Amino acid sequence: MNLLFTDEQEMMRKMVRDFAEKEVAKEIPRMEKEDRFPTEVVKKMGELGLMGIPISEQYGGAGMDYTSYIIALHELSKVSATVGVILSVHTSVGTNPILYFGTEEQKNHYIPKLASGEYLGAFALTEPGAGSDAASLKTRAKKDGDRYILTGSKLFITNGGVADTYIVFARTSEEKGSKGVSAFIIEKNTPGLVVGKKEKKMGLHGSNTVPLTFDQCAIPTSQLLGKEGDGFKIAMANLDFGRIGIAAQALGIAEAALEYAVRYAKERHQFGKAIANQQGISFKLADIATEVEAAKLLTYHAASLRARGIACGKETSMAKLYASKAAMKAAIEAVQIYGGYGYTEDYPVERFFRDAKITQIYEGTSEIQHMVVAKHLLKE
Ligand code: CAA
Repeated sequence: MNLLFTDEQEMMRKMVRDFAEKEVAKEIPRMEKEDRFPTEVVKKMGELGLMGIPISEQYGGAGMDYTSYIIALHELSKVSATVGVILSVHTSVGTNPILYFGTEEQKNHYIPKLASGEYLGAFALTEPGAGSDAASLKTRAKKDGDRYILTGSKLFITNGGVADTYIVFARTSEEKGSKGVSAFIIEKNTPGLVVGKKEKKMGLHGSNTVPLTFDQCAIPTSQLLGKEGDGFKIAMANLDFGRIGIAAQALGIAEAALEYAVRYAKERHQFGKAIANQQGISFKLADIATEVEAAKLLTYHAASLRARGIACGKETSMAKLYASKAAMKAAIEAVQIYGGYGYTEDYPVERFFRDAKITQIYEGTSEIQHMVVAKHLLKE
């Protein structure tokens, strides 16, 4: 794989790996036990330039390519999938929509703050009644002079209780489905924006996931992103980027599960030899390693297409679909290899198991990724 990366990208990998092992790893107990958002880690990521890796220097970002960003997500997620998702949501769907669809004024105002980590971004598409069928969302944005008034609710918003800006999708016309949806930039503390109670999740402890309510939330019309009716396409186009990030997160979890499983299988002796030398275990390890490698190739292939500006909706969905399945399987097998120990909180494999599951659900379930891949395939 090294042949695929430039020296600059390898430097990024080393820098992020060091940071993850030194600064992120020590926060895991607090994230796990107290479900505490890693504020200091995010602050340090801002100082290191990690909050705006693929954002051009013109807007205060690191000006690096998309593959470097994916490398960072991969390495962070190997240590903490929680920190991985915070960065992925912030960059792919919290910042990029403004970068690609914002006016020059919106970009100048928001991007430098987001790219430096002064602001944290969130993305509010999902609703209680609109998950996979995102176009059926019901939050309304009614134009009233030079304001829009938003009414409705959003669910499962990553970074939602700690974000400074939200990319919010709401219906501006009665027209059914995707055509009546518009996108808005909404700042925290806007009157009428109510942040709900933090979800207690199976995994990704420390990541902040909340519902949002818009109760007659008035915002200036200048907060519209793109044109009225562009919202659904903005959401979909940015999920095309975002899903590579989730593939990288899943890849990180899978690789970590594999490394722990190999190490343990070599140490653990039963029936007079290391369990790694029992075929039942070594074949499992060989399967996981093969799937991790395949996930890596799919993920970095999608990233390299994206870095070159080549349409890659199909490759993105394939990468997310495959890497999330590989992560789930690697984590299940790692727990199995650890046996009873794997079922305790004394070893990280149970965390990998809990964290892996969400990669098959958010930013489009595996079933949605199948739909997207099939749609591209049948159109070609
Ligand atoms: N890029 C640009 N435009 C796109 C697009 C894309 N990738 N995909 C679709 N569109 C456009 C289509 O061209 C179409 O426009 P026209 O009518 O002008 O041609 C319009 O959008 C509607 O497209 P579809 O008819 O394909 O839309 P659909 O209603 O059938 O839905 C879907 C398609 C893929 C199922 C979509 O609803 C979807 O992705 N659902 C999953 C939602 C999701 O991923 N949610 C994630 C929430 S965020 C999150 O999880 C973050 C987190 O916490 C980590």
